[in-house]
Amino acid sequence: MDRMTEEEFDQYVLPVYQRFPITIVEAEGSYIYDDNGKKYLDFLSGWSVSNLGHRPRPVVDAIKEQADKLIHVPNVFYQEPQGELAKLLVENSIKGKVFFGNSGAEANEAAIKFAKLYGGGQRHKIITTERSFHGRTSATMAATGQDRIKEGFAPHLPGFVHVRFNDIEALRSAVDDDTIAIMLEPVQGEGGIHIATPEYAAAIQQICREKDILLIVDEVQSGMGRTGPLFAYQGYDLRPDIITSAKSLASGLPIGATILGTKVAANVRPGMHGSTFGGGALVASAAIATLQMLLSAEVKENTAMLSGLFAEKLAELEKKHGCIQETRQRGLMIGIELDQDSRPVAQACLDEGLFINSTQHTVIRLLPPLTATTEEVEQAVSILDGALAAL
Ligand SMILES: Cc1ncc(COP(=O)(O)O)c(C=O)c1O
Repeated sequence: MDRMTEEEFDQYVLPVYQRFPITIVEAEGSYIYDDNGKKYLDFLSGWSVSNLGHRPRPVVDAIKEQADKLIHVPNVFYQEPQGELAKLLVENSIKGKVFFGNSGAEANEAAIKFAKLYGGGQRHKIITTERSFHGRTSATMAATGQDRIKEGFAPHLPGFVHVRFNDIEALRSAVDDDTIAIMLEPVQGEGGIHIATPEYAAAIQQICREKDILLIVDEVQSGMGRTGPLFAYQGYDLRPDIITSAKSLASGLPIGATILGTKVAANVRPGMHGSTFGGGALVASAAIATLQMLLSAEVKENTAMLSGLFAEKLAELEKKHGCIQETRQRGLMIGIELDQDSRPVAQACLDEGLFINSTQHTVIRLLPPLTATTEEVEQAVSILDGALAAL
């Protein structure tokens, strides 16, 4: 078969993504390779999907082994990998039960439905923050606190209110008798790497406790070891009622997980929700292998080491380049706020073989693999340094 050109691809695939004129054919560790043999250091990790780098060996082995036994049976049967995965997630987060879907949006969609179920038809309002991103389905788009995501798709699902991030007073004023949940990204990803303050987290916890309001943490981007602990909320004094996870959970196979605390899970009965592929044996095996790696001392220590290294390097960059307004870092979630459009910097880096991205127009975002090496970080920072100098 002739190789498909990029023009032909565009003839058939709906243009919902802005694509680079680059075709990727292979990936390994921290690198992706195009069809001309050019290699790129991937320090975005597919928006925090490849937290263990590309094709981590234990995950590939688990997928191969499982594919030889069982790929899919419907959820009317028991199968071991799904149960084992749920157990691992619960043991490493909150006491409760897990629902499996196939994406971050689906995980949040389930969180929204189950929060409303807990509201018992009385309370239904969910408070989220400005600049938040929770997904592209109708409910998660309505939950998202960014107008540009919603443009063209009105009317939106009612019941969501957006308040300023890290503003305790704004949050207190938004709470009323209809409020059933507060939905929070502990570190906003798409919104430009904005980090919840400990005071904000403490206030949220207090409001939730006082008013029996559920705390939903969206850990789709901030989870899976990216900020240090398995979930970013674990770096705060927070006790969520619902946790959502996706992206890196199965190292690149599609998965979404909604962990419901015991009191929320208690209301759920057969037939209330579902997803054909959710928690399939193949993806669950990949996720178990991923979690085992993420929980290993080796990966945790490397994440801590790289975080320290980045902190040092970012301070040097900030001193050197006047265009940097601020750097924001939580573990390996990194945002560099510029005083100008950051897209040319991301493009210049790509030309030089470093894949990072620009978000919210002025922010450079880095989400490097937790398994990267010191040399790879130094190489990435040197390319970024050059791109900033050329502005
Ligand atoms: C915090 C957060 N929530 C939800 C989503 C949606 O995930 P998905 O694209 O898998 O539906 C994303 C995706 O970027 C995200 O960053």
